[in-house]
Formats: sequence, structure tokens, C-alpha cells
Amino acid sequence: MQHIKQYVDENKQRLLDELFELLRFPSVSADPKYKPDVLKTADYVAKKLRDAGADKVEVCQTAGYPIVYGEKIIDPSKPTVLVYGHYDVQPPDPLELWKTPPFEPTVRDGKIYARGACDDKGQFYMHVKAFELMMQTNTLPCNIKFMIEGEEEVGSSNLAIFVKANKERLKADVVLISDTSMISMEHPSLETGLRGLSYLEVEVTGPNRDLHSGVYGGAVANPATILAKMIASLHDENNHIAIPGFYNDVVDLTPAERTALNNAPYNEAEYKNDLDVQELWGEKGYTTFERTGTRPTLEVNGIWGGYIGEGAKTVLPSKASAKISMRLVPNQTSEKITEIFTKHFLSIAPASVKVKVTPHHGGEPAVTPTDSVAYRAAQKAIAESFGKDPIPTRGGGSIPIVALFEAELGLKTVLMGFGLDSDALHSPNEKYDIFNYYKGIETIPLFHKYFAELSK
Ligand code: BES
Ligand code: MN
Ligand code: MN
Repeated sequence: MQHIKQYVDENKQRLLDELFELLRFPSVSADPKYKPDVLKTADYVAKKLRDAGADKVEVCQTAGYPIVYGEKIIDPSKPTVLVYGHYDVQPPDPLELWKTPPFEPTVRDGKIYARGACDDKGQFYMHVKAFELMMQTNTLPCNIKFMIEGEEEVGSSNLAIFVKANKERLKADVVLISDTSMISMEHPSLETGLRGLSYLEVEVTGPNRDLHSGVYGGAVANPATILAKMIASLHDENNHIAIPGFYNDVVDLTPAERTALNNAPYNEAEYKNDLDVQELWGEKGYTTFERTGTRPTLEVNGIWGGYIGEGAKTVLPSKASAKISMRLVPNQTSEKITEIFTKHFLSIAPASVKVKVTPHHGGEPAVTPTDSVAYRAAQKAIAESFGKDPIPTRGGGSIPIVALFEAELGLKTVLMGFGLDSDALHSPNEKYDIFNYYKGIETIPLFHKYFAELSK
């Protein structure tokens, strides 16, 4: 432990400067206008892996953005950890809500503000720097492989192809990912599950053109009104999802699992205060942790139609649309849920409109074992660096490749995330605490140490 602290101390400023350099690349995968920047980011990551001591570093081309690979094999008889992360980030919009520009990392109150600070640049870069630390101090105890992709935020569709085509190269004993949250720095935790996702777009069309809302209003169905009604009908009065068959495959937690989950510290006043809401909302009969971690949900991500410019325009729109996502839990599958949503949504459309449903990406839910050598190594590492045993929790977000790694490579994952839910991932003013960044760099070598030791 001493050599770790010392290395971090001696390199403090540089470790931060390098992360800042990485954060300055606007690597937004969703918007083609950033394409040159996304590509430059991949090259930067490759250079940093090489500098840290990785061999066989390659910027692997795909039909989309490249995957950066690198490895250090110290002894084929030793266990191998496959580190996964993503160098792409969410779009920074709405820009006007950022206090400082999203791609000019700025420190305020000990926190780094920038798009990607937590999700996932700040987190995957800890692994690159922890690797450098182990190389420099001659303490790398196992083999390590890196796979850092550039399309996580848009569904990782090319990663699936890459994984299938590179099974030999990706051979490992466990996948290690830092792309999730902890309860708080005082209550370190390890996520043991992720939800799946089914994402679609719906379009409701009424008349064949935008109409004068005075001349035609009252006689022709307004697609915005119809869409709002259709969406409102998707939850019942208990906030259950009212799509027939939606819960059919959901596995209920055992009473013991529910108790364990709800034992985690939770401060409702703080939670509400952080979000500036008076009251929480959710499926009746479940706690907040259960609602976000273990229950499927349905959200409208965006909704539009008609005139949304300056001032007023009297118009009865021809079309209205929405982007809808559903978070899935074990045993639901993205394909089946997409199918039953589509069937249901079309069936509730009145004859006054036409409805189109277009699926976007999906992903499967995952649970990670809590009795494995790798999980115990993560527990020990966190217990040592935080001075407290980590609490197992279930995350509400999705990392679809976790299920993919299991299906294609037979590999289980450890989700050793150091973010906080309040880090504003995907929101304006995303941040990452400098403390968490250094803490991560200190904890990761301990994971490798205990993983190697416990694997013997
Ligand atoms: N890192 C997040 C997922 C996450 C965040 C998991 C916090 C647990 C806690 C990841 O980058 C992400 O945002 N995933 C997307 C899914 C993807 C298919 C677009 C998500 O969850 O919306
Ligand atoms: Mn992420
Ligand atoms: Mn994300």
C-alpha cells in the first residue's frame, strides 16, 4: 500500500493534467460532427496505453468508431484481467446550462467539471494510470488486457462484432469495469447488477400537413394530444406499467434479497434536495433502491411536435413523436419487450391517426456474482483503501456489453465504479471528484493484487 500512496503523491499533478488533456477531446459518439475528435481521442488513448507500458497496442477499426486494445502479459500461467471502458461521451447539450464549457475541464470545490469527467473518461483513465503505477513500481501481479471502446453511449453495436471476432485475443478470467456509481464516499459500494434497455421512437401522424388550428381545430385529431394520451396510458394509477405481459418474465427478489438491498444507507431528504423535488414518484410497493435497481421502468426521453419556436404560431401539427426507453431486469429480454411494446402501442392508437414505432438499440440486463474470487478481491481492495467494507447494490443504468461478455466469452464482470449518482452523468455540469479519481488509482492495484493472490 505504501508504494501506491507514494506513487500517487509524487505524480499528483501529472495524473490530473493528463486526465484534463483527455477531457478536452469532445468525443461525442452520437453526433457525426465530432467524428474527427472521436478518432483523435482513440489515438490519444492508444498513446497513453503505450506510454504506460502496454504491448500490442492497436486502434482496431470497426464499422463505427475504433476500439483501443492493449495488453501486458507477464506470465501466461497467471490470471488475466480484462479492463473495459469507453472513451466516448454523451452530447453536452443543453450547452447554456453549463457553468463552464463542457470540454474545458475546470476544478471547483475539489471537483472536475467536464463532459465525461465521470462517465467514463475519469473512470477508465484511473485504470490506465493504475497500470502505469504497477509497471513503474514493478508490482503488476497478473496479466492485464485493455479494451476501451468509442460507441458505448450509442449502443456498442460494433463492439459485439469485435468481441465475436476476437475471442482468443480477449481471453481472460474476469472483466473489470469502472463505469458505475457508489452510494457515497463514506459508504463505498459495489454494484452487482445492471438493467437492460429497450429504446424506441414513436411517431403519430394525423392530417397530411400542418393545419390552421382555428380552421380545422376541433374537427381533426391533434397528434400531439393523441400521443400524450397514449403515453399517459402506459402507467396505471399505481405507476405500474400497463402493457399486457410486460412483467411476465420479471423475477421477483426474495424477501431476504429485498431486506439486504434496503439495508444500504439511503437519505430521502438528501435525495430529494439534490434533485429539487418535493416528492418522489414510482411503482407502488417498492422502495427507491428497488425501483431503480430491481424493477423495470418506462421513460419518455424526449417528446416533440408542432411549433416550438419563438412566440406563438397557431397550428394543428401533422405529426408528433417521442423517444421512449424501457429499463429491463433479469429475465426480460430487449427483443421481447420491444415486440410487446410495439404491438401494444399500435393497438391503442385511435383510427384518427397513424402510428409508427421504430426500435433503436437495446441491451440485456446483467447480474454479477458476489461469491467469486474477483468479487472478493474487489471487496478486499475497497475495504483496504476506504477502511470500510463495500455494500452490494444494484445499479439502475445499463452497460449492455456486460451480458455480451458473459454470452460470448463466458466471462463474469466486476463493477468497481467510483462515480456518484449526483455526478450528473449525461446532464449539464457533469463532474468527478478529484478525491475519487485518486482513490480509484489507489484501489485498482489492490484489486489486481488480491485477485492474483486469491486465484492461487
Ligand atoms: N456508465 C453508464 C451506465 C451506468 C451509469 C451504470 C451509472 C450504472 C450507474 C453508461 O455509460 C450509460 O450511460 N449507458 C447507457 C446505455 C447505452 C446503451 C446508451 C444508459 O444506461 O443509458
Ligand atoms: Mn459509462
Ligand atoms: Mn453514459
